[in-house]
Amino acid sequence: MPPALQALLIQVFSFLACSAIAVLLALALKFNPPLYAIVIAEAGLAAAIAWLRRMDWWWWCIQLLFPPGIVVFLSFGIPPSYSLIAFFFLLLLFWPTYKSRVPYYPSRPSLLPFVRDLLPAGRSAEFIDIGSGLGGLVLGLAKARGDCHFTGVEMAPLPWGISYLRSKLTRSKALFLLQNYLGLNLQAYDFVFAYLSTAAMPALWQKAKSEMRPGAMLLSYEFAIPGVEPDLCINTGDNAPILYAWRI
Ligand SMILES: C[S@@+](CC[C@H](N)C(=O)[O-])C[C@H]1O[C@@H](n2cnc3c(N)ncnc32)[C@H](O)[C@@H]1O
Repeated sequence: MPPALQALLIQVFSFLACSAIAVLLALALKFNPPLYAIVIAEAGLAAAIAWLRRMDWWWWCIQLLFPPGIVVFLSFGIPPSYSLIAFFFLLLLFWPTYKSRVPYYPSRPSLLPFVRDLLPAGRSAEFIDIGSGLGGLVLGLAKARGDCHFTGVEMAPLPWGISYLRSKLTRSKALFLLQNYLGLNLQAYDFVFAYLSTAAMPALWQKAKSEMRPGAMLLSYEFAIPGVEPDLCINTGDNAPILYAWRI
């Protein structure tokens, strides 16, 4: 079950369990627990269940903050339309995260020179960033190496739209595609760059092995492929993630 659905079910269960206990206390002992106690109990129960189910730490935080967040929101009388706008904004930004488990977060600007230096000197190359986010890396590389071809593929509509607009506004030759990289053949590329997540790496490796040409290079920022020794591990700066490279 996707973590987002698990989290929702846990929250609903905790709400029903704590509400039922509050009703029982009121009926049996004529004791009405204060609202803040019910909210704290619900948040604590949801976070504990998430922890027991070994969900990632950010899910415990979300479970803990969600119920008090709603109470604060309601007590300030903030119109529900604001939440709806925020919901649609987040949906456009994190559209594929529900399935892919790869949210948007940008790579550091310090990465660019290390990737640029891997490109061959004096001849053209095809480069793709699978999950290109706002397009920063692809646009920076396209500016630095006008003789190479750079493509970004992104599944979330908002980051893709922003990267597309950036390429038009800066008259960049970089190409941005709105689609799932899993539906794209990687055979055409000399360099495939990924900044995804631990969960996405095994599928990426299977795809790279079956589609990338011998001699082409798979690059992954921060995330290694479990059980596959990289050919290069590049330190991209103090406390910055490692850039891993595998020669196919
Ligand atoms: C961590 S961000 C990296 C952004 C960018 N590559 C960079 O270096 O700044 C990962 C991006 O990959 C996108 N993504 C995740 N799975 C994808 C898929 N299967 N196809 C295309 N994009 C995907 C996410 O929407 C997110 O924007």
